[in-house]
Amino acid sequence: MKKLLTIIGARPQIIKAAALNRAIRTKFADELTEVLVHTGQHYDHGMSEVFFEEMGIPKADYNLEIGSGSHGQQTSRMLDSIEQVIIKEKPDALVIYGDTNSTLAGALAAAKIHVPVIHIESGLRSFNKRMPEEVNRITADHASTLLYSPTKAGSRNLEKEGFRTLREAQQRGKADIDNPYVFHCGDLMYDNTLFYSDKADEYESLFEKHGIDKGNYVLSTIHRPQNTDDINVLSGILNALNEISLADDVQMVLPLHPRTANKIAQADDENIKKVQSNPNFKVIEPVGFLEMILLEKNSKLVMTDSGGVQKEAFFVKKPCVILRPETEWTEIVESNCAILAGSDPEKIKTAYNHFKAIPIPEFPEIFGDGKAAEFICRSIIDHLN
Ligand code: UD1
Ligand code: UDP
Repeated sequence: MKKLLTIIGARPQIIKAAALNRAIRTKFADELTEVLVHTGQHYDHGMSEVFFEEMGIPKADYNLEIGSGSHGQQTSRMLDSIEQVIIKEKPDALVIYGDTNSTLAGALAAAKIHVPVIHIESGLRSFNKRMPEEVNRITADHASTLLYSPTKAGSRNLEKEGFRTLREAQQRGKADIDNPYVFHCGDLMYDNTLFYSDKADEYESLFEKHGIDKGNYVLSTIHRPQNTDDINVLSGILNALNEISLADDVQMVLPLHPRTANKIAQADDENIKKVQSNPNFKVIEPVGFLEMILLEKNSKLVMTDSGGVQKEAFFVKKPCVILRPETEWTEIVESNCAILAGSDPEKIKTAYNHFKAIPIPEFPEIFGDGKAAEFICRSIIDHLN
């Protein structure tokens, strides 16, 4: 039996961890056991607890209750607390997801005391080190022993940074931090979307609750610091969405991240006032995962700066306008299923009009077969020493 200590903290990590936890409980319970550690990076009910309830994740064994703070404050508090849990639990490995401050803290805490790190969603790069996530993910990858890349582009990025191919690493010997193994495994979020797609339809009352016109709305999420820290940037994006809504008589549905909601609440801005007076603009609280899948499935198109939401748009075969200048999910753009518009209002409108004018694109298979969690579990059992 191998004991994994899993670090979660931000919304998308809880969602990803649900897929692995489900696989462990249902298929690998004789070989893997998991201790869940929630750093408390996200803490509102709608940003954390709702996913445990809906996705059947067991209550976290530890909640470190770190909460919000500057990068240094948040990461250092996590580092200290995670180290104490590792020392107490003595796991065979520590599992981290993605690229948040919780990911970075977990990677550093474990690697420094010689506990192998398993990084799920490794290899992704924006090539923009001004993003906190880029610094977190590069550091986490280089502190890891088993690296699971969801896409081929991710595996290639790692090779360019000096990681050996799996075959070369296996020829050198067992996996460890100086001889890391890189696997291309598919995407856990695709597992989740397939698993919950039908069940999401049970949440249809959401449309009536918010007066949403099923099938005639654009779904949008915005939370990146680049789009929210400067109110003029945020105001420009919202104005572009408002103009699209008015010109095309289409609803805009925005389940708003608290970072963005806080910014809007403090703003005194003409564009934001215009948005607030447009009845077709539906700004709502963050929704649960099943409601989000429902909203994605029934949208005309998705506009987002979220990594997870741009992929899910692809999974449910919806075109996506990416509200960022670059993406880690390059294959989506290369296959013409998404356009990078950044925060430029003109580019956002042009991208929307482009997708309106063309037939629905083809969505090639990029993210695996929906069984990434099983692959990862089997591979941990086989390769963790
Ligand atoms: C974090 C991740 C980001 C990820 C996102 C997922 C880092 C550096 N960033 O960004 O990569 O895409 O999570 O959603 O780790 N807040 C609340 N309630 C909550 C959580 C946050 O009100 O439950 C507010 C606080 O004012 C907080 C702000 O949101 O200061 C930002 O939260 P934080 O976790 O620092 O960063 P995110 O923008 O959520
Ligand atoms: N999500 C959700 N409710 C929302 C917004 C997003 O359940 O109101 C889910 C979404 O379906 C995806 C994940 O949260 O699975 C993406 O997280 P987020 O956008 O916060 O972070 P990112 O993926 O950009 O790191």
